[in-house]
Amino acid sequence: MAKITASVYTSHVPAIGAALDLGKTQEPYWQPVFKGYEYSKQWLKGNKPDVIFLVFNDHATAFSLEMIPTFAIGTAAQYQPADEGWGPRPVPVVQGHPDLAGHIAQSVIQQDFDLTIVNKMDVDHGLTVPLSLMCGEQDPLQGAWPCPVIPFAVNVVQYPVPSGQRCFNLGQAIRKAVESYDEDLNVQIWGTGGMSHQLQGPRAGLINKEFDKMFLDKLIADPLAAAAIPHIDYVREAGSEGIELVMWLIARGAMSDIQDGKVTGPAPKLKHRFYHVPASNTAVGHAILENQ
Ligand code: DHB
Ligand code: FE
Repeated sequence: MAKITASVYTSHVPAIGAALDLGKTQEPYWQPVFKGYEYSKQWLKGNKPDVIFLVFNDHATAFSLEMIPTFAIGTAAQYQPADEGWGPRPVPVVQGHPDLAGHIAQSVIQQDFDLTIVNKMDVDHGLTVPLSLMCGEQDPLQGAWPCPVIPFAVNVVQYPVPSGQRCFNLGQAIRKAVESYDEDLNVQIWGTGGMSHQLQGPRAGLINKEFDKMFLDKLIADPLAAAAIPHIDYVREAGSEGIELVMWLIARGAMSDIQDGKVTGPAPKLKHRFYHVPASNTAVGHAILENQ
């Protein structure tokens, strides 16, 4: 059967993609950000998954205000990097895994979570920046990402957004779905976005290090408490875009210590934790957890 072996959590700041694509990674401003991912790139090389289930949010790129799915699973064979205003990022096309994605859709919908099935979708920085950070730079034509990716888009852009608790519960359903797939596949689940940031209005530029640290602590060691944080607390404490953090709870809920909403097994092993301010308008947060 397929198995979730590890989860990865990371911010997806679009300016990180621009810094990579424009060769600025060694500039003093960016150097400390990329340093935080050196270990991660090595770790991924030594722990290469067969499939990455990548939880991210679309930023009005694939979905406009005409259509706003709360949870959308990508079932396509390929996903093109999106044009976000500066042109598409020069990165490889993302290969999908239609068979596993279709199986997860079937199982998760039967577990009473409403998913939108997406057979065609361009992917923006929410998905490509985490891939670049973890996999390193790839030639757009000759290169390739290390494995197929199932994009899972969560609406955290247009209110109402799903609660952290619902995301955590959904993660548990996703794990059950993966574990009922016949083929022996090593699957990683990545939760992306965050940490504290607000991009507009009088509080634009808000960063809350205390909240970010508390969230990372709880995410790692007290996930039930992290899941119970009400959505208004993210907005109040971590800024309007800090709500992106609920996507990390989908990945955390899919780890093997969680069963039926309770902690029933040994805590996952913390392989790496990183936090840095600033990167563009956000705090960059990152962690890697391995199932025991
Ligand atoms: C920034 C961060 C985001 O998560 C995003 O989607 C867009 C911009 C920023 O920090 O500038
Ligand atoms: Fe974002």
